[in-house]
Amino acid sequence: MTLRKMKLFIPMLALVAACAGAPHGDTGRYADLDGSDWPALTSPMPLDPAMEARIGQIVAGMTLAQKVGQMTQPDVRNITPDQVREFYIGSVLNGGGAWPNMKKDASVAEWAALSAQFHDAALRTDMTVKIPLIWGTDAVHGHNNVRGATMFPHNIGLGAADDVEMMERIGRATAQQVRATGISWVFAPTVAVGQDRRWGRTYESYSSDPQLVARYGAAVVRGLQGELTGDGDVVATAKHYLGDGGTFQGVDQGENRATRAEMITTHGAGYYTALDAGVQTVMATYNSWNDVAAGENHGKLHGDRYVLTDVLKDRLDFTGFVVSDWNGIEQVQGCDKTRCAQAINAGIDMIMVPEDWRAFITNTIADVEAGRIPMARIDDAVTRILRVKMRAGLFDRAVADSRFNGQASAIDVSALAREAVRKSVVLLKNENAVLPLRADARVLVVGASADSMSNQTGGWSLTWQGTENTNADFATGQTLLAALKEQLGDADVTYSADAAGVDVAGYDAVIAVLGETPYAEYNGDVRFPAPVQHSLLHPTDLRVLRAVADKGVPVVTVLYSGRPAYANDLINLSDAFVAAFLPGTEAGGLADVMIGTHHDFTGRLSFVWPGSACSTGEHAGDVVQFARGYGLSYGDRRPVGVLPLPATPARCD
Ligand code: BGC
Ligand code: BGC
Repeated sequence: MTLRKMKLFIPMLALVAACAGAPHGDTGRYADLDGSDWPALTSPMPLDPAMEARIGQIVAGMTLAQKVGQMTQPDVRNITPDQVREFYIGSVLNGGGAWPNMKKDASVAEWAALSAQFHDAALRTDMTVKIPLIWGTDAVHGHNNVRGATMFPHNIGLGAADDVEMMERIGRATAQQVRATGISWVFAPTVAVGQDRRWGRTYESYSSDPQLVARYGAAVVRGLQGELTGDGDVVATAKHYLGDGGTFQGVDQGENRATRAEMITTHGAGYYTALDAGVQTVMATYNSWNDVAAGENHGKLHGDRYVLTDVLKDRLDFTGFVVSDWNGIEQVQGCDKTRCAQAINAGIDMIMVPEDWRAFITNTIADVEAGRIPMARIDDAVTRILRVKMRAGLFDRAVADSRFNGQASAIDVSALAREAVRKSVVLLKNENAVLPLRADARVLVVGASADSMSNQTGGWSLTWQGTENTNADFATGQTLLAALKEQLGDADVTYSADAAGVDVAGYDAVIAVLGETPYAEYNGDVRFPAPVQHSLLHPTDLRVLRAVADKGVPVVTVLYSGRPAYANDLINLSDAFVAAFLPGTEAGGLADVMIGTHHDFTGRLSFVWPGSACSTGEHAGDVVQFARGYGLSYGDRRPVGVLPLPATPARCD
């Protein structure tokens, strides 16, 4: 073995050993933390003296401009490869809806070609030691910005599958999709513990149960990162640190008022296990933390040294790097998008400054020169970034040197996604065993969501918001309508999106496919004091269901949603009701469980399902209609009966 290989080999062995020691599904000693203190972790990848010496030498030879460039992360829409070279840029990202040359239909080969341009540029600087680039992407349910890429169910559905082993496979498959495009860093998993259904990012959370989030976080990190240096391995990110799922009234980027003990036991849970699994990067969160009980207001966490450095880097022994969120620095008091000494001093190592990166570089250099940011902090940040790049093998091998690079076949992982759909959909009601449908059933399908890839895939799908997409844009997968036609036969499936004037007579069943329209982040928030009731937010769905209900033909409702919204009115109008969450591109998995007896429903709610429109979570006083863990299988003969319909007030205050 050459010396160079040996240097890589030592930390890799350590990582493999750490993974082997963590049995699947184990949240270990973190499950019963009492909240009195953050757990004292030991990094599964001890610092390798030879690697550290090599990094030290490189950093010692860098100018301030080179160091700051290394810490800067622009969006590919706003920087050219030549500017990457000129400004010594350490990283780029493609934000939601950023594609090569802004072509939504860019091929895998075009992605890989753009990646090669950026990576080559980084190696053509005038630095003594050239530093490879790292490109990050939001592959949050498969490689979701790429046309033709299979998209998995969003996290809320995956949580309902409660299948740690499958999550590791999903991580592997996603990593391979990403490597096909020449990218080696993924901004996932999200280990948010979503506590309020008004939050527009509820669907990005696996569960309101911290232990499920903890098991999943570790599994996805293992799957994405593999050994870090393989053909199909990428660097993973645990996000958004800390407390994104617990903001007051579910306001995205809002104020988390948790006690320290709640932060430790609830919102921290996914980080301990992700760190144990060797996660190499952590993304800071937009929210603030106001520990009201202790009278301690930390403010926006992008600027909080206690959380970013004292807890994460010291107590939890995190040796990778912290990346800020999209313009996240501007929310720190006294900062704007181009300048934030406080965030860097607090412990942010790489700064996501998608647009104003030039001004940011100028201002940060000035802040260091004026002593507002110590050089030691800059050196530490650059050291951490170089460490992750070395651990990921980027210094030793081009990202393009992977058997997946440029391979269109690698982005099709539809069989696995279909399995995930089958396991993630939850049967809430099945009166008189309406489901499963017989393979020879004649059905009437109603509801616009039945033939909508957009409603089926939700936000973070081709575009940031998941809006402005047609079915054809996906170039892969199937809507539920298409899947039903395939499995029941074209002639036995009739479709009416609005159900206007339909006559249900003569059909064996009506299948109503209802759904939210896509959204991401704060655009999906239901703002206080609005009630969270599906039929109020999407009145057309109620009209469609009324047009077919109580007409003597059984009605099976499938609901696409990023949150468990109150839906007793819809459930009462249905004989069977399937909470399908946001299943992604492979609705064939839904048809698989709805038709015939080959597949049963095994999905179980990973969030409480509310029994009133003002019940937004698991807070005191919230009405629970279906508890976490609820879900029917075909053997269950528990009738749901008529659910109560408490009046919905205009305001929930
Ligand atoms: C989101 C992150 C995401 C980043 C880059 C932000 O708005 O909060 O989750 O990784 O954008 O797209
Ligand atoms: C980007 C997203 C990002 C968002 C944040 C969008 O323009 O494409 O990736 O999360 O802005 O506001």
